[in-house]
Amino acid sequence: MISSKKIDKIYETVQIEEIIEDFVSLKKRGVNLLGLCPFHNEKTPSFTVSPAKGIFKCFGCGKGGNAIHFLMEHENYSYPEALKHVANKYGIEIEEEDLSPEQQEKDKERASLYIVNEFAKRFFQEQLLNTGEGKSVGFQYFQDRGYDEEIINKFDLGYAPRSGNAFKSAALRAGHEQDRIKALGLISDRGNDFFRERVMFTIHNLSGKPIAFAGRMLGSNKKAPKYINSPETEIYVKSDILYGIFQARTAIRREDNCYLVEGYTDVITLHQHGIENVVAVSGTSLTPGQTRLIKRFTANTTLIFDGDAAGIKAANRSIDLLLEAEVNVKVVILDPEDDPDSAIKRLGKEDFENYLKTNSQDFLEFKIAHYFPKGNQDPFEKSKAIKELVKTLALINDQLSRSLFVSKTAEMLQVEEAVIINEVNKILRSKIWQEKGKRKKDRERERQEDTTFEIQVKQEEEKLGSPDYHQELALLQLILKYGNETMSNGLSVAQYCFNNIQDKDLPGINDPQINNLLDKISARTSGPSKLNIQSLISESDPQDAQLIVSLISDEFEYSENWEKRWNILLQNQKPPEENYESDAEHIVISLKLRKVRKLSADWAEKIKGIKDNEELDDFLEFYKELKKVESELAEKLRTIIYG
Ligand code: CTP
Ligand code: MN
Repeated sequence: MISSKKIDKIYETVQIEEIIEDFVSLKKRGVNLLGLCPFHNEKTPSFTVSPAKGIFKCFGCGKGGNAIHFLMEHENYSYPEALKHVANKYGIEIEEEDLSPEQQEKDKERASLYIVNEFAKRFFQEQLLNTGEGKSVGFQYFQDRGYDEEIINKFDLGYAPRSGNAFKSAALRAGHEQDRIKALGLISDRGNDFFRERVMFTIHNLSGKPIAFAGRMLGSNKKAPKYINSPETEIYVKSDILYGIFQARTAIRREDNCYLVEGYTDVITLHQHGIENVVAVSGTSLTPGQTRLIKRFTANTTLIFDGDAAGIKAANRSIDLLLEAEVNVKVVILDPEDDPDSAIKRLGKEDFENYLKTNSQDFLEFKIAHYFPKGNQDPFEKSKAIKELVKTLALINDQLSRSLFVSKTAEMLQVEEAVIINEVNKILRSKIWQEKGKRKKDRERERQEDTTFEIQVKQEEEKLGSPDYHQELALLQLILKYGNETMSNGLSVAQYCFNNIQDKDLPGINDPQINNLLDKISARTSGPSKLNIQSLISESDPQDAQLIVSLISDEFEYSENWEKRWNILLQNQKPPEENYESDAEHIVISLKLRKVRKLSADWAEKIKGIKDNEELDDFLEFYKELKKVESELAEKLRTIIYG
């Protein structure tokens, strides 16, 4: 276990926006930050981060929590892993002794792959910079390509020596397990070093950890492949990562555009020339996972691909994928013998950027040039091409831009716009029918399976329609938001509420979830202890955490409507943050009143059944008392509300 002292330190230090901004692009909106939710697909941002409260909340999908929850959800981290991530980021040391043996074992298992890769990365760097062979072969190679030491370090470039097992021996000597080294693809099946006599490229994940390697051969030997790559592992899923994303993400967000290139060296050379918003698809065509990765940082891309057949094919497919994900695409096709690496070297930064500007096409221009290489007017060819283009057009969700591109297509191909519209509509219609069919099937299945669900919903609705539930919710919210504030009677709001509601004569809390949470909070605020919301959230199960976050974020903010409907607190004269004193009194009295009303109703029932006169007098006497208390409480409530 990480000691609670360390955990506190981590919570004290973490700035939620700094954690989340590593993964999601956020814009300032008032006191909060707003971005596209990484947990569901959305077009308009509803993912909110509150730096002041230390929480995030998506008003679209409902996910919410603190920085640690975000990391657990987003990176699939365990709780200790998420804590360590934060500790790492802020340079907080967590000693190994802090961990229990089982925890150590588990963590080691999960982190071991990173550790071995980290070792390999260092080994290759060491070879490149500090050995005779590395310097004269590897370093020389990078220098010839124009890379200085700064860029070599920025990209963790390295060198794998000629010898058959230099890496393996070093890794074993350092205590790394052979199986693990092998699982990472660093040694071959025959037990030799996999990367030999190659310059090495480290592939990083979003947080900069080495997850894989690529080795490029030196010179050109037609027999061996130019690049060899690490296999996929638990920490390296090719389809979800883009080469250079770690080094590029800030610039992509800043420039609000992402250059997509094909090769490792294209990325590095562009950086060397001061263009940093660039990532590589590494010779394969783009995947949905990679598109999503880009979309976290920008909705604008520019493909810069080679003019060879492979480049054009890759561009063609990438366009459809990006359009479908509602990412704008521009395309720059270089001369067949060129790639971004050679082009920027020849032109320099400024001319290269001008070249991009003057030669960038929208996807339509690119596709038409592709399907009509020589302005082919053969009717059969033309209709075939139209059919292809129409498929792409139908992928554009936004109606306005779709119709603009439809007109442009008609104009460029010199066909009636109606023809194109007709074809696009055919596809859209069949899509809609497919969707409908699917939804109908889903509905039927749901109907069959889901009577229990309906019952749950009913219960939930009853709960939401019940004044009692809202009172209890309001109590919990008050304690969560203002529990630590001191009232004029010297008690904290939390203490005051608990003193009153834990009184035997008072009603318990009906809702089990709220009751349970209040118990937890009460245990934490006994005596002088203050309530620490962050640690409460992090130690709650997901459902409770969700409720807490909803209550302290603004979604459930008191509304006038609530007051009218449920007769609970809230005064509109003052902002709620200044009302905690009267709100606390109000809610305590409301709860008392609720109890007394219930008692007198029960009593009235009993009285109806009484025959004996003397007994009846006693009962009536008590009933009158109850009624008196009831009206006193009601009067008090009015005084609090109306001053
Ligand atoms: N690639 C690969 N394996 C190969 C060839 C290519 O993985 N055998 C991937 C690499 O990611 C490479 C990209 O495809 O960066 C583009 O290939 P290519 O254009 O041939 O290489 P360059 O990146 O231009 O490399 P260099 O400039 O060093 O020749
Ligand atoms: Mn190249």
